Amino acid sequence: MASNFLNRPDPSSLLEFDYQATTPCSPEVIDAMAPYWYEVWGNPSSRQNRPGLKASAAINLAREQLASFLRVDSKKLIFTSGATEANNLALLGHARAKAIELGSPGHLITVGTEHHAVLDPLRYLQKEGFRLTELNPRSDGLLSSEQLAEAFQEDTILVSVMIANNEIGVVQPIAQLADLCKSRGVTIHSDAAQAFGFLPLDFDSLGLDLISFSGHKLYGPKGIGALVVDSQVPLLPLQWGGGQENGLRPGTIPVPLVIGFAKAAELALKDLTERQKRLLSFRTQLWEGLLEHLPDLILNGSFEQRLAHNLNFTIPGVCGSSLHRAIRSILTCSSGSACSNGEPSHVLMALGRNRKEAEASLRLSLGKTTTLEDVNDAIFAIVKVVKSLRESD
Ligand SMILES: Cc1ncc(COP(=O)(O)O)c(C=O)c1O
Repeated sequence: MASNFLNRPDPSSLLEFDYQATTPCSPEVIDAMAPYWYEVWGNPSSRQNRPGLKASAAINLAREQLASFLRVDSKKLIFTSGATEANNLALLGHARAKAIELGSPGHLITVGTEHHAVLDPLRYLQKEGFRLTELNPRSDGLLSSEQLAEAFQEDTILVSVMIANNEIGVVQPIAQLADLCKSRGVTIHSDAAQAFGFLPLDFDSLGLDLISFSGHKLYGPKGIGALVVDSQVPLLPLQWGGGQENGLRPGTIPVPLVIGFAKAAELALKDLTERQKRLLSFRTQLWEGLLEHLPDLILNGSFEQRLAHNLNFTIPGVCGSSLHRAIRSILTCSSGSACSNGEPSHVLMALGRNRKEAEASLRLSLGKTTTLEDVNDAIFAIVKVVKSLRESD
């Protein structure tokens, strides 16, 4: 189906509804990075020469700025290549350090709806002798303190629960889960890739021991992220080299990317409240508009405890591959995570959807430039596609 049935100024332009997979770099971010590609290009570890000192000063300033936006001590901030690396460093690095301290691998807990960048390192640790419990959340995608409390074992060393889910957008009661871990002396890690810049959070007061971040989800550059780790939390590096980032992440720090990440964080927090309010209203209109024409849609995940810019629903009675094939020339969205290798969403299946239902599902994520016209066009396009698929069956 061609996209020109929509009344858009440029009929070949796609409706963008996949901003949780990634975001474009803000022009202000690109401007902030620009001098660090070709003017201040020194190696921040070369502090014996002037270009190196300049680069090092820029990194120090960006680290301080980013730490203040996150409301954490800058000494806790380790730059990584993204949230995937931050998760791997946190989970593998901490579990292995604890195993050395305790003399044997212990028990780990996570939720089946985590991103693969958490599930896969934890599953890998099973090969090293750790035991893993993957909890199923409630049908609304949330994990209760009671469910976590029941999963603890005598030798549980580490719990990993994300703050906001990348597919269904649900926001976990993370402070309560962290309190519970604290009361049992168990380390808690959280993947905040989808939360930072989208929820008003004070990371220091959440009681988390390890937190992962990504730059490209908040209109920053790809290839940069961070891990927040307290010096009291034992962590082994995954790589060895020049000793950068307290020896936890050796390698030359990518100065422009760090500067861009700090700028993106500043911008994301600046208009957070106003943006959330606008997107919440657009998301509500999107959902209500779709339901008006397709009342049998099934919402995936809690409606209330949810990121303002996320919507995820199952469309009964349509074939997933036909749906995605028909929709992709009109609208960018996804059926699951961008990193799912084309498999039906493990997140939706953990909520109880079967394979067919998981495939016939759409994740729509709104961005800061999404307009009401985009929302109305998306409703029109989805309804038209679904009705024509149903009629052709
Ligand atoms: C929740 C979550 N964790 C981790 C990642 C991976 O982040 P990065 O691309 O920075 O490695 C993503 C993005 O795809 C994500 O949504």
